Amino acid sequence: MLKVLNIVGARPNFMKIAPIVREMRRRETDFMPLIVHTGQHYDAAMSDSFFVDLGIPQPDFHLEVGSASHAVQTAKIMTEFEPVVLAEKPDWVLVVGDVNSTIACALVCAKLGVKIAHVEAGLRSRDRTMPEEINRILTDAISDLLLTTSQDADENLKAEGVTEDKIKFVGNVMIDSLFYSLKLAENSRVREDLDLTGKDYAVLTLHRPSNVDEPQIFGGLLDALRSIGEKIPIVFPAHPRTKANIELFGYAEKIASSQIKLVEPLGYLDFMRLYSGSKLVLTDSGGLQEETTALSIPCLTLRENTERPITISHGTNILVGTNPERIKRAAFEVLNQDSISNDKKIPPLWDGNAAERICVALLENS
Ligand code: UD1
Repeated sequence: MLKVLNIVGARPNFMKIAPIVREMRRRETDFMPLIVHTGQHYDAAMSDSFFVDLGIPQPDFHLEVGSASHAVQTAKIMTEFEPVVLAEKPDWVLVVGDVNSTIACALVCAKLGVKIAHVEAGLRSRDRTMPEEINRILTDAISDLLLTTSQDADENLKAEGVTEDKIKFVGNVMIDSLFYSLKLAENSRVREDLDLTGKDYAVLTLHRPSNVDEPQIFGGLLDALRSIGEKIPIVFPAHPRTKANIELFGYAEKIASSQIKLVEPLGYLDFMRLYSGSKLVLTDSGGLQEETTALSIPCLTLRENTERPITISHGTNILVGTNPERIKRAAFEVLNQDSISNDKKIPPLWDGNAAERICVALLENS
């Protein structure tokens, strides 16, 4: 019986851990899964609602660290998590993704000699100004089992000197959650509530510091989006960081006077219902690049790079950067197409069964 501490902290972690914990509970003679929530995200809309929508059991440990600078947040997670590991003596600690909670918990375990499994290992944007890129590189360097979503990630890890026996290509656990929840999401009334039924619309998310912390870049993006809004209305569920900066930079009027509809952050099922019916997604999120690829929805990524190149080579993602003219051109091109080409395929092993392969990999490596 393997005792596994499963770590969650921030919004993009919840949909990754949900199918893993479900599969571990199903294999009750092999696994004893516990959940640790670091509290990196704490608002009801950023955390609690995801536990409800995804049917995740209540955390066994809640570290309640909250927001702070990167150093303070990472250090707080470490000091709060170390006693949990010492008391629980797990066989494995499983971390997902690339947020501060991921590296903080992995680092605690590396020093205590507790085995770490990293889900979504090996992704690289090659942009070290992104805090997530630092988290990815460091977490992979100290993990014992590197579970990858795509084969380019395996290649990245090998190029960094990771031995093949530590790498296991298991597919994309985020797509497990997507396929599991699609039917449930049909009960959401979000399209009706936003008066979108029977209408064409686009969906926008923006939260990367590089896009929303610089008034000039954020302003340029909004100008491009205002023009696109004249062709197709845009729904914009805004992250707390983004909302705060809209106020700080005085952009509320820029948005209010456009066809961009600013709404509160949505729960997992409401958001799925929203983007799954859209004509176009514009985003700087990592997860959404994958979700749109799985559903063959055109996605424009408003970044200069992506750690998920498979969504471009095997999916619907187009990297358009942050230049307003380029974004407008790309959006108009997509909107002028009758339909997206049918030769787009879903990447290998994005099949809804990644959690099962993760459990098998843990058993085989124990
Ligand atoms: C974090 C992750 C990022 C992920 C994003 C998804 C890191 C380095 N970044 O960024 O990879 O894509 O989550 O959302 O781990 N805040 C609230 N309520 C909350 C949480 C945050 O209001 O529940 C506000 C606070 O003002 C906080 C700010 O959002 O200072 C940023 O939160 P933080 O967790 O530091 O980073 P994110 O930008 O959310």
